Amino acid sequence: MILFQDQIVEKSSIHISPDDRGYNFGDGVYEMFRVYKGELFAKEAHFARLIRTAEAVQIQLPYSIELLEEKLNSLLQVEKIIEGTVYLQITRGAAPRAHAFPLKSEPVVYAHCNEVKRPVHIMKQGITVKIVADIRWLRCDLKTLNLLPNVLAKQEALDAGADEAILHRDGLVTECSLSNVMMVKDGVLHTHPANNLILHGVTRAIVLALARELELPILEEPFTLDALRSADEVFITGTTVEVTPVVAIDQQKVADGVIGPITERLQEAFELKFL
Ligand code: PDD
Repeated sequence: MILFQDQIVEKSSIHISPDDRGYNFGDGVYEMFRVYKGELFAKEAHFARLIRTAEAVQIQLPYSIELLEEKLNSLLQVEKIIEGTVYLQITRGAAPRAHAFPLKSEPVVYAHCNEVKRPVHIMKQGITVKIVADIRWLRCDLKTLNLLPNVLAKQEALDAGADEAILHRDGLVTECSLSNVMMVKDGVLHTHPANNLILHGVTRAIVLALARELELPILEEPFTLDALRSADEVFITGTTVEVTPVVAIDQQKVADGVIGPITERLQEAFELKFL
């Protein structure tokens, strides 16, 4: 079952117009929620980001966040999801193809959920990454459907035998294709500031709050690819990856090539607090 507009229905029963602007222009917004213990995790932060993105691209949410939350919870119950994800997207709706906003169009809401286990093995073992140029626009803080540069970056990483892409603009590390990135050097946690060049990850903010609780020094400043390559620890954060260590960059080991102590402490703090 899926959520379509404000109804929980069979996926096969719905009709989405080929003139939907999400399909024609990527004209829509989305969120990806984690589900732990049958509940939407960090829902306030996700809904706040959804509202912010929708406002920025001038898509009117068709009904209240309270109703949306109620519907997503019903979907989780119907699908009996205890540990999983919820994907939600809202497009500007269908209209004859023209770039300008249509005078009349109804936003189209669609959400589905999946059973997804926490990637516990990968979170211990770590992933490898490829460095890829960040060719995205200048509003990476908005969670819109325009993900082609992210798709291409992820594929470039996979084609090179790596698991994820770390993106850079002119030698400065921004984030990854579907996650944020942090590094540790001499005990200091470094990550790109939450400005227009990265998605303001919900997990990123949670991990920074945990780091503050652990009294780890934090520097939210852009850092170079050279700094990344000589880091003591590198890890990525995201709804689907939680806190996952990066053990090799472009086939060169990060430090000893195993999960680092601060990454482990942050993973433990996350589990202790939320799971
Ligand atoms: N991606 N950066 C990018 C480009 C992302 O697409 C995501 C999330 C993140 C991490 O944000 P959060 O901690 O709020 O999940 C960072 C989702 C999972 C996706 O597109 O599927």
